[in-house]
Amino acid sequence: MNKKMMLSALGIVAVSSSIAIAGTTPGSGVLGSIHDMNKYAGVTVDTQGRVCAFCHTPHHALTSTTAGDYLPLWSHTLATTTYQPYASATIDSTISAATMMEGPSKLCMSCHDGSVAVDTHYATTGAVTLNAKDGWGQAGIAQTSSLSNDHPIGFVFDASEGGVAAGPVTGDPSTVAPSDAGQDKWIRNKEATYLSNTALKIKDRLYTGSLGKQIMTCATCHDVHNKKNVDAANATNYLLLSPNLDSQICLTCHIK
Ligand code: HEC
Ligand code: HEC
Ligand code: HEC
Ligand code: HEC
Repeated sequence: MNKKMMLSALGIVAVSSSIAIAGTTPGSGVLGSIHDMNKYAGVTVDTQGRVCAFCHTPHHALTSTTAGDYLPLWSHTLATTTYQPYASATIDSTISAATMMEGPSKLCMSCHDGSVAVDTHYATTGAVTLNAKDGWGQAGIAQTSSLSNDHPIGFVFDASEGGVAAGPVTGDPSTVAPSDAGQDKWIRNKEATYLSNTALKIKDRLYTGSLGKQIMTCATCHDVHNKKNVDAANATNYLLLSPNLDSQICLTCHIK
């Protein structure tokens, strides 16, 4: 290696390592973040060093004729699991297992249910899965094909579309007329903004699926790209759209 090449190689190392550190900071993007697959030991790294490629591809993307599928130039094999929805005595929403995973949620679960390796992309079949035995420190969130112990997703959000959230944008729900059985005025309607992230409204993070109405998904709470994420810098980076501090993410919607 001549001197010039060596210097530029060193330069690349220096630049990429400083970006890698920045990527762990909330709001600083995918590169170097928890969703940068190249940074994990044991993973088949991308031969071209790409970061987006584990999820997206400019060509030959997955296509589907399944209603409600959202495949933004998707390059990662999808899980085929059918999940059991959340249920409780007090939930007002109706969640259908058939439509629950529409939108971004199905994409998340192509890694987070542990059935497909995270380093799978293009023609590469990866080997590292998010399962209980993987040594990642976390099990996938739906190990038993169930999302019944997870915050509900996949239901129509806003009362204006026949969904559950009937509360006011700000202020006291007692100013709102009593809601009917399928509604809850203690949940803010979709025009409300995320706490500590006021550029973003709840409706911006809902997905219009095959029902033709906006449903709640994993991406209503999380930002997979670590760009709109505002979680406290000193906390575990959960890619949240409002901070976990003081449970602001929960208080964005729940008037409790
Ligand atoms: C770990 C998987 C993953 C990686 C890596 C990733 N994305 Fe995404 N991307 C997603 C998911 C999931 C969605 C749909 C969810 C959403 O919109 O929040 C999405 C949606 C998108 C969209 C369409 C919606 C929008 O926000 O505009 C664009 C554009 C996009 N990604 C670009 C990129 C680029 C560019 C990169 C690399 C810098 C990248 N993504 C890396 C998972 C990923
Ligand atoms: C290409 C695979 C892949 C996709 C697609 C993907 N993730 Fe991840 N995700 C990972 C990996 C790998 C980790 C790191 C796991 C760990 O540290 O235990 C991770 C970590 C996370 C974390 C942080 C966990 C922690 O321990 O702090 C959250 C939150 C998360 N993902 C949410 C999502 C959401 C929401 C989506 C869809 C919008 C999504 N992910 C899509 C692979 C993926
Ligand atoms: C109502 C908001 C909300 C929804 C919807 C949601 N999450 Fe989370 N998630 C959180 C919060 C908050 C945390 C931080 C951990 C905590 O507070 O206990 C978290 C943590 C995580 C983690 C890391 C911790 C762990 O237990 O593994 C992953 C991975 C994750 N979420 C993925 C997902 C996926 C995939 C979906 C969709 C199936 C989803 N989340 C839907 C709020 C949500
Ligand atoms: C984007 C808005 C939103 C966010 C953020 C959010 N929730 Fe929810 N949550 C809802 C909606 C809507 C329901 C469905 C309520 C229903 O149908 O009765 C729900 C359901 C629940 C339920 C089940 C209620 C029942 O009757 O069984 C609990 C508990 C809950 N949320 C707690 C939380 C916690 C804790 C957080 C923060 C980690 C959180 N939520 C974040 C909107 C949200």
